[in-house]
Amino acid sequence: MAEFSAVDLIIKKRSKFELSTEEINWLIGNYTSGVVADEQMSSMAMAILLNGMNRREIKDLTMAMIASGERLDWTGLSKPTVDKHSTGGVGDKITLPLVPLVAVFGAAVPQLGGRGLGHTGGTLDKFEAIAGWNPSLTNQQFFDQLQSVGGAVCGASENIAPADKKLYALRDVTGTVEAIPLITSSIMSKKIAEGTSALVLDVKVGSGAFMKDFDKARELAQGMVRLGIDAGVKTSAMLTDMSTPLGKKIGNALEVEESLEVLAGGGPADVVELTVALATEMLRLVGIENVDVAAALKDGRAMDKWRAMVSAQGGDPDAALPKAKESHTILADADGWLTELDALGLGIASWRLGAGRERKEDDVLLGAGIELHAQKGDRVSKGQPLLTLLTDEPNRFDRALEAIEGKISISAEQPQARKIVLERIYE
Ligand code: URA
Repeated sequence: MAEFSAVDLIIKKRSKFELSTEEINWLIGNYTSGVVADEQMSSMAMAILLNGMNRREIKDLTMAMIASGERLDWTGLSKPTVDKHSTGGVGDKITLPLVPLVAVFGAAVPQLGGRGLGHTGGTLDKFEAIAGWNPSLTNQQFFDQLQSVGGAVCGASENIAPADKKLYALRDVTGTVEAIPLITSSIMSKKIAEGTSALVLDVKVGSGAFMKDFDKARELAQGMVRLGIDAGVKTSAMLTDMSTPLGKKIGNALEVEESLEVLAGGGPADVVELTVALATEMLRLVGIENVDVAAALKDGRAMDKWRAMVSAQGGDPDAALPKAKESHTILADADGWLTELDALGLGIASWRLGAGRERKEDDVLLGAGIELHAQKGDRVSKGQPLLTLLTDEPNRFDRALEAIEGKISISAEQPQARKIVLERIYE
């Protein structure tokens, strides 16, 4: 490999020049092995935040991060692989009904899930509310489950894009999380390393989203779609609303409970709509078209797949879900329309109730969270229950209530109907 100097490369990017493929490969390879120091990489991250990267540089950065670890390979599987990635939202339990639903139609979903940090939950935390469920699969077990069941959700090993793990931790403490080239390569390096042939990105927009601004979310989605395609993965994206929570249940076991309602043919309309929209797009990308996706939720086929998927990973699909010991219900203080039910406020409240973690070593309270009795846009009457806060530790209620203060509004005027899918993005 050619030799470069980290300082020269930092000065080059600081001076708004492009980094070559060889320079990027050298930088990431040597950062992973410890030759390039954290302070040098944090300076480079800041130069990238300020001066950006072009399409070729972003692809090179992503491929170098993938090459820092293992890339899973599903050659030999008799089904096409397709996955979904969400940038994270409040009450976003869509992966749970989505994976079995897509598997019903003969595609395989190799999902590497993560744990939640901050106000958005993690898929692994939700599955871990199911007694016995095991997130650790060997590559052979992962393959066998995709072949037999069609869906598997597995904790990402330390060896998936280790350069990203190191860089993400550094960005977190150096004010460089927001750099779009770095976000794009961070998210996509992990998804491409997962070995999927197709990918649908659910990019959330609104107060509860990582990207609160529509134009920024669109820019991120377009960049990720281009990058996926450049890397040979069929990729498309949807911009979806995260101004208010998805569904009526927020928190780990609560979200499993609501997913089971959806898999049983019921559940809130917004969760069903987004699940069906994402499943239809995932199947389209792998050439499975003209299928009635919604019917598989109604007739029990998706539920059968769910049960097979959970059992294959040691989970008991019939076990009772953990329940919080304490509750506190908030009542409507007026008659009218629920015009505001802010995703960020509710996400923070749920986190403070114990559904999320403060530091990555913390445990979550599986039964904690919030149950909504009405959603944004609903008509409510004075005195009716609006939402119930749930936790095992009642000393958490005060701080949760503070997070909701001013985040719920009831108005005499009916708001416009909520749109879930705001825009679709193709190359
Ligand atoms: N999620 C990631 O995995 N990486 C980022 O940079 C931002 C969100």
